[in-house]
Amino acid sequence: MTTDKGENTSNTVTVYSPATVANMTCGFDVLGFALDGPFDKMVITKTERKGVEIINKDDYNLPTKPEDNIIGVALLSMLKQVDEEIGFKVESTKIIKPGSGIGSSAASAAGAVVGANNLLNNRFSQDELMEFALDGEEIASKSRHADNVAPCLYGGISLIRSVEPIDVVRIPAPILHVTIVHPQIEVKTSESRKLLGDTVPLKDAVTQWGNVGSLIAGLYTSNYDLIGRSLVDVVVEPFRKKLIPMFDEIKAASMIAGSLGGGISGSGPSVFMLSKDAVTAKKIESAIKEVYKNVDFEFNTHTTTISNQGVKLEY
Ligand code: HSE
Repeated sequence: MTTDKGENTSNTVTVYSPATVANMTCGFDVLGFALDGPFDKMVITKTERKGVEIINKDDYNLPTKPEDNIIGVALLSMLKQVDEEIGFKVESTKIIKPGSGIGSSAASAAGAVVGANNLLNNRFSQDELMEFALDGEEIASKSRHADNVAPCLYGGISLIRSVEPIDVVRIPAPILHVTIVHPQIEVKTSESRKLLGDTVPLKDAVTQWGNVGSLIAGLYTSNYDLIGRSLVDVVVEPFRKKLIPMFDEIKAASMIAGSLGGGISGSGPSVFMLSKDAVTAKKIESAIKEVYKNVDFEFNTHTTTISNQGVKLEY
């Protein structure tokens, strides 16, 4: 039930939390966008007992102890700021496979806090929700990066200018279609981050910040050519691409099929490729399947778009 102001007057809300692509090739830890699917589903109920109860309704065997669960950690962080004797029961159905590289942990964390906030009549600000969600993200990836959580919360493309304090800029963009391939190998973000050193040669830094700046300019001005030219990563991709079977071949085939460019989605193993229209996105999908036709591991592909909507609620 909702009031005239759209407030939820019941004790339950259903949450659909989207997959996201972090880094957007050149923007390691500072750029990310929301996808128009897949979505994790959570049914959150406000209870009269302080604490969080997690019921997993999928086959991923994720922890149910709140302190060990991304949803649990994010909600416990929120409950620390709540004086009343209330808590939350969360029935979680994960569709976004953990370790797939399309923001599975962020979908859990961001979806949980948006849903719970709705049951508290939206008493927390977006920045506060981001802090709670980042507490959840941090236990999964061992780092406090917001390039999945922010677009999951806000939709569209987010630029993370700073995490401490939170300073997120929403970036406008023309229509962009996305082709995703997910080789079914698990890459843990924490492991994938260990491959990266602590320093970047100045020459590479110059190339990278040139590309980040021009990508933002291309997005603001709907300049597809500039967007494409800017999708270059000389800092992270050279280290991480070895985690992804036939990465260079996938990318080359996608470019021949008309992609603007793309790269590793977050910490991998998924790869995303951008295009201007749905027909090209499908051509890219076929080209990738052709590259992978004889491989001895499972993979799946799908096409979608960058979505301006983040977490969706139903009540
Ligand atoms: N920016 C993070 C990384 C995203 O690349 O490690 C993880 O999804």
